[in-house]
Formats: sequence, structure tokens, C-alpha cells
Amino acid sequence: MINFEVITLFPEFFAPYKKSGILKNACDDKLIDINIHNLRDFTTDKRKTVDDKPFGGGVGMVMMIEPIFKAVESIKKGKSRVILFTPRGKKYDQKTAHRLSKTDQIIMICGRYEGVDERVAKHIADEEISIGDYVLMGGEIPAMVVIESVSRLVPMVVGTDDFLKKRTKSVSAIEYPQFTRPAVYGKWAVPSVLLSGDHKRIEEWRDKNKKIL
Ligand code: ADE
Repeated sequence: MINFEVITLFPEFFAPYKKSGILKNACDDKLIDINIHNLRDFTTDKRKTVDDKPFGGGVGMVMMIEPIFKAVESIKKGKSRVILFTPRGKKYDQKTAHRLSKTDQIIMICGRYEGVDERVAKHIADEEISIGDYVLMGGEIPAMVVIESVSRLVPMVVGTDDFLKKRTKSVSAIEYPQFTRPAVYGKWAVPSVLLSGDHKRIEEWRDKNKKIL
């Protein structure tokens, strides 16, 4: 069982996400657990302040270390990994998803606004992850990306047949084009080799058209 713990200023983003499809089933079956924590619950002032002006000046606000520190401390247990999402982080890939799938607890800090006090990256997070070279509004979508890609690797979450097991077991994922009925849709026909029943040629075709992630 993997515990996903999300620290966010927008917990409502995750309500429909947790309730749909495969992730809901995986939670119901206790294969994974997704807990959403509102960062404002870890503030101590009446206004529930989570950000402040940057030292040295500059535009925008910076997320403060204290509520994040308190949130992580109260959530952390066992073999955990603390991730801070930032566009400066290491680029996320399938290999990282595999590594994270071996962890008991994945704590994800979703940054918002112009940035997060650098001491969070330095002293609280175990790693910084970026999901790509573009700037998002915050770490909520990256957290969903991690939850989804890691959950798929947990045995029994995605299907139970041998093919799916094989697909999710190897560290790299092999993806090739797939087709289903009808064999011809208007002007668009399925590659004839896939209808040939010749398994060797089909394997060769898939091999030629695959992408390894
Ligand atoms: N926060 C803002 N942009 C991001 C990105 N590309 N990856 C991870 N976190 C982010």
C-alpha cells in the first residue's frame, strides 16, 4: 500500500480526482491511499497566512517555511519521500515513477504563487521534481501526474492479466500504436499486418513502431 499525501492550498482540486475510475477502485481496495492536507490548517495566525513578501524585494509573494514544515512533520511516518514540485526540479520520467513506487509514503508539497522559501527545498524536501519545461500555476497537476503514474505500477491497480503485469513490471514502459474495430473507418484503415494473424510479423511491426519510456 502506498500512501500519497498532498499538501496544497487547493484541496478541492483533488475531490473529483480521487472519486473517479481506477484511482477510486484502488483506494477502495486499499492498494493506495490518497490524503489531501490543506496547508492553511497548519498556520497559527487568525488570517491563516501562508505567504509573505520576498526578502530583498521583488514582485509577488513567497510561500513561508513554517506551515509547510509543520504539515510535513505531522504527516511523515515510516519510509517516506518528500517531494517539492517546482519547474526547476529534476524532470519526471517513468524511471522516477518506478523508484517512487517502492516507497511507503510519498509526501508532495504543491507550491503556489511566485515561489516557495528555498529552505523548504534545502531542508524539508528530499527531492525537487518538475513535470516539464513549462511553468504551471502550481504543483497540483504535477501531484496528480505522480499519483497516477505511480499508482499504475502498484500490482493489481491496473488489470490483473499477465500482459498488464508484464507491462507494468519492467522498469521501462513499452508503448506501441493500438487499434480496434472497425478495421476501416472511412478512409482510415488499420495496418493490414495487425489483421494478418501472423504473430511474428505483428511483433516485428510493434517493435519497429514502439516507444520506450
Ligand atoms: N510548478 C510550476 N510549474 C511546474 C512544473 N513544470 N513542474 C512541477 N511543478 C511546477
